[in-house]
Amino acid sequence: MLLSWPGYEPFPFLKPIFPDMNLSFKRAVLATLAITTLSLAAIAQQAPKPEQVIKWRQSAFQVIAWNSGRVKANVDGQYNKEEVVKASNSIAAIANGGLGSLFIAGTETGKGWHETSVKPALFAADSKVGEYAAAFAKESTELARLAATSDQAHVKEQFAKLGRTCKACHDDYKSKD
Ligand code: HEC
Repeated sequence: MLLSWPGYEPFPFLKPIFPDMNLSFKRAVLATLAITTLSLAAIAQQAPKPEQVIKWRQSAFQVIAWNSGRVKANVDGQYNKEEVVKASNSIAAIANGGLGSLFIAGTETGKGWHETSVKPALFAADSKVGEYAAAFAKESTELARLAATSDQAHVKEQFAKLGRTCKACHDDYKSKD
């Protein structure tokens, strides 16, 4: 068998550490190393650093703000349906994309791109953030639907509704910055 040829050294980098060890022990060591590496990677995946999580949510809200600005410019001025569809779909995708998973324990305070502006009350047992997030998802989905099927006046009305869901959540759970 190829791996048991005399003189064949499959893992030369282990030789200085374990000069006398036999092949099956080397394999066991390598397997353990591999499993440890994989487990660490899995843990890292399950629990990203608080700083990373705060960055993600701040970025998500920046993308939401970018697209809200696009819708606003259109409903207040020259209306370009295609542009409004794109922007509304982007907001709805993020609003329905599980933003809640970016508000995990350990991210009540701390820095992402900058100091978080979340209020600790968002994490409290009696938090209404779930309701606010659901309203946000619902109204943004409706905005996307109207953008594709309706006219400027209806989209403008729905955009105002959506704006109220931003404000409701910010009033309770985002400090002014
Ligand atoms: C369910 C609650 C909630 C809703 C709904 C919501 N936000 Fe926010 N928003 C937050 C929280 C909490 C933060 C603070 C995030 C942080 O700094 O960690 C935030 C931060 C922001 C930021 C600042 C991002 C940064 O760089 O720090 C902007 C801009 C923003 N939101 C815009 C909006 C807009 C526009 C809407 C509606 C279209 C909206 N948000 C809807 C809770 C919400």
